Amino acid sequence: MPLKVEPILPRFGAVCSGLDLTRKLTEDEVRQVTDAMDTWGVTVWRDTHMSDADHVEFSRNFGYLERVPRREGVKFRLPFPELFDASNLNVDGEVTQDPAAIQYRKGDRLWHTDSAFMEKRTSYSLLLAHEVPPEGGETSFADTRSAYEDLPQEMKDFLEDKVGINSLWWSRKMAGADIPDEEIEERPRAKHPLVHVHKGSGRKALFIAAHTMDVEGMPREEGRALIRQLIEHCTQPQYTFSVKWNAGDMVIWDNLCSMHRGGEYAYDTYKRDMRRTTVREGTEPHTMDMGDDPFSQLFAKSPRVVDIQGARVAGR
Ligand SMILES: [Fe+2]
Repeated sequence: MPLKVEPILPRFGAVCSGLDLTRKLTEDEVRQVTDAMDTWGVTVWRDTHMSDADHVEFSRNFGYLERVPRREGVKFRLPFPELFDASNLNVDGEVTQDPAAIQYRKGDRLWHTDSAFMEKRTSYSLLLAHEVPPEGGETSFADTRSAYEDLPQEMKDFLEDKVGINSLWWSRKMAGADIPDEEIEERPRAKHPLVHVHKGSGRKALFIAAHTMDVEGMPREEGRALIRQLIEHCTQPQYTFSVKWNAGDMVIWDNLCSMHRGGEYAYDTYKRDMRRTTVREGTEPHTMDMGDDPFSQLFAKSPRVVDIQGARVAGR
């Protein structure tokens, strides 16, 4: 059965069906999924019946999967290092009441692209719902290609050589975490052009996120105003849609041509068990080892450790 693709917006987002993602896909089927992703940027797959192992296996079709740093003596809830825990649960699978964990997750509710704070960018994120709250917790997506294309030529010219400076801690501060400016200055950041060509489609896209703190070479306040303006532009209704989740649903988004944010829900009451695989940009399918661990390196360089798995902030 061929892949069925139903667009959500005229230029962005599609609901896909007709492929059983629990079994090994043929090369042609993988190509169909990649084509759908290149065209639509975000694809929604309902009721997949995928297990953790299926999720990881399917994701490998698109490149090397980033791994969650493991640390000795720290217990993890999920069985594979390739699964990032995007839930509101603690290691025992209960709703966390840890204020630091709750605070950390608030950053996900700002418009962002995953891992923009890393030098090695993320292409696809594949998020699978295992358990969802009865209401709220939708994920919204924004089309950074169409939003770029619709900018006035003058703005496109202005943005052409601009480079954004991205910091994880900046976005956490913007979400309300108490992090002094001097500490953000000391921590690692990554530079990425604000505009780039999306390889799969040849279309240009904005690459901005809540992590984007400054614009290189611009006075700080002007740069920050520009970033805010671009995020507001990209997140207008004509570029956005939301996905309401049911257990078993998976959404794949291409961070290189979209932004996203999580929606509010009663996170201290209901379980929201979401698990994510994350593909590193420009890597070959089924690459098992890149011989590095940039996440661990990033956090090792930090004066205080933010544990992105347990979402626990140590030493605070
Ligand atoms: Fe995210």
